[in-house]
This record gives sequence, C-alpha cells and structure tokens, in this order.
Amino acid sequence: MSLFTRLSEQPKDRIIALMQAFHDDPRPHKVDLGVGVYRDAQGQTPVMRAVKAAERRLWEEQATKGYTDLAGDAGFRDVMAGLVLGKARDAHRMATLATVGGTGAIRIALELLRSAAPQAKVWLSDPTWPNHPPIVRQAGLAQASYRYFDEAAGAVDFDAMMNDLGRVGAGDMVLLHGCCHNPTGANLTLPQWQEVAGLLNERGALPLIDIAYQGFGDGLDADAAPTRLIAQNCPEVLIAASCSKNFGVYRDRAGVLLALAGDAPTAARTQGNLTALNRLAYSFPPDHGARLVTMVLDDPALRSDWQDELEGMRRRMLSLREQLATELRARTGSDRFGFLAQHRGMFSCLGATHDQIDRLREHHGIYILGDGRMNIAGLRADTIPMIASAIAESGI
Ligand code: LMR
Repeated sequence: MSLFTRLSEQPKDRIIALMQAFHDDPRPHKVDLGVGVYRDAQGQTPVMRAVKAAERRLWEEQATKGYTDLAGDAGFRDVMAGLVLGKARDAHRMATLATVGGTGAIRIALELLRSAAPQAKVWLSDPTWPNHPPIVRQAGLAQASYRYFDEAAGAVDFDAMMNDLGRVGAGDMVLLHGCCHNPTGANLTLPQWQEVAGLLNERGALPLIDIAYQGFGDGLDADAAPTRLIAQNCPEVLIAASCSKNFGVYRDRAGVLLALAGDAPTAARTQGNLTALNRLAYSFPPDHGARLVTMVLDDPALRSDWQDELEGMRRRMLSLREQLATELRARTGSDRFGFLAQHRGMFSCLGATHDQIDRLREHHGIYILGDGRMNIAGLRADTIPMIASAIAESGI
C-alpha cells in the first residue's frame, strides 16, 4: 500500500484560500480585504524605501553567502531585541533566535514548550489568527481557548477573558497578541495588561507574546509597551516577533524568538535548546531579510526613513478606519460601526454571518474572511463609499 494514499485531505487555510479565490476572480472592480498585507493608495504592497536602499547596498557589499550562526546573525537578534523590548531588554536573562518569520518563531516556541512540558496546554484567544490552532495541533500540544471579544460591543470582553484565564494551569502557555489583535483589532489597555501579568504569575503560566504588527497600531514604542510590561513583570516570557509587516519583507521570512528566563544560567540553557531546535527544523534560519532589517536599524539615516514610512502607513490605516466609520454612519444612520475607528492595526471584525460575507463577495466582489475579518489596509479612499454601501445593504 502506498504511503501517500494513507494521508488525509488537509483543510484549506482560510486566508490563503481566499487569497487564491481573489486572484482567480476576473472582475476588475474586485476588492481584496482578505490576507493581511499592507497596501498603499494604489493597491500595491511596496518594498519600503529604506529596505530597497539596504538591498542595493547589500548587493554591492556582501562578499559571502556562507553560513551565519545556527541561532541566526547575532547583530539581527540584537537589533530586534532592542526594537521590541527597548529598555526592558535584559541581556542577562535573554536567549534569542532568528526564525523563519513570525510563524517560525511561534512554531519554535511551541517546540520548546513541548521539550520542557509536553503535557502543558496552550491557551489561545477566541477568536485568534486562524493559523494558531493548527500550528499548536501540529506541534502535538493540547489547546484551550479564552474568551476575548464581545462582538455586539465591538470591544474586548475583559471580564470574560480574566475569568477564563483564571482556569489556566501551572506551566500552561498563554498566547497573547502583543498589539493590533488579529482578527479583531480590539486591544487591552495597559492597566488591563498589568492585571493579565498578575494573573499569569498567580497561575504560574508562561506568556507567549505574538507581536506581528509593531508600528501599525499606535506607534513603535506604544505598540511594544504591553510586551515590555510583560517582560518586566513575568519571570519567564517568550516573544515571537515578525518583520514581515513593519519592514514589508513578507516573502523573505524574517522573524525572531526572544526568551526571557529567570537567571543567566537558565537563559544560557534555553539558548542552547533554541539553537538546537533551529538545527533540527531547518538548520540555519534565512538571512537575507534579517540582514536588511539589521542594516536599516543600524544606520541612523535608513532607520529614520523607515520610521517615517512606517508612520505614514500607520496614519493611512487610521484615516481609512475613520473614513469607513463615517461613511457607514451616514449610510446606516447608526453608530454601530463606530468601533472601526477605535480599533488598531490591520484588522477589524464586522460581526457578519457567513451568508452576508458570501453576498459581499458574490454581489460586490468584496473579499472578507469568513469570520468577518477585514484588512483595513486593503481599503482605498475611492473604494470606501462603494464598500460602505455594500456593507449597509448587506444587513450586517
Ligand atoms: C494574515 O493574518 O492575514 C497574515 O498574517 C498572513 C497570514 O500568513 O495569514
């Protein structure tokens, strides 16, 4: 009997399937609000200026493509630790690993958990990024979910969240979105983060922060503030950071996993384990995107240009949020979509049924994920009136 025929059919990834359906749709007026990639006013996902300049310089100057470190280039890990943790960075208790994008960092974090505590459960927000549950499953770990979002209010249901996290077991992992929650766009306040840190410590749980959108919400430092708070208040912390969105290097797969341990010897042992996990998964992590990020962050002129461009992207998403909320207020005569202007990052959830989502796609060529998640960066000033009319008509 053939081995391959024993394989079961895999469910399609919802985000990637929608991306393909959009690609195959011949209608010229179609609008992609599905996959989370940034788009500019022309609908393009540009290579950022500073990244392009670094790439040119790299082409001129790079003399070898020999292997780097198994843990990835030390310079990259260092600048990323600085970007994410700022003053909360404590080299003494830290282990760092370059990974295959942010997803690779999450996967390695789960492998690390499995090495230390295979019985541990991983707690995910409900809802969460659709790829989180299958990655946890594939890593062979049990999972549970904690309530997060009050759909009717379009806001975080903090009481429900704390209630559910009150049941987390000692040694369990709690996955938290560092900023710009995917898919809801609704985020905790800093005092709420403080309460979460207290509860996790009380329960003896390990936080894994997934920070994939630093700079897309309230700014680079404001977006990192919750991660820094957790880093300073919890004895052990894992942080999976992605460069895909804020450096626009999606296909280059640059990301980092930061681990904060209780003391230096434990950090050193953790480093050894992380490095071994890279070796076991794919040997050396990719370097091209990581090197570009390092060059941008290390060069004051490139760094400042990158920050300006990123800030422009962030402001554009904020103004699209406001424009859509205003148009929806005008068309529905109600403020029930007001939350769109309050949310932060690339996504918000419309709270629509599957039928309504299907109708938006079939009748208007508007592609939104099945749970009502909309990529705000896919909006354009000139498409918002049509999109607002379609949403208002759909009865959402
Ligand atoms: C998304 O949530 O759409 C992005 O993170 C892209 C992806 O890989 O799913």
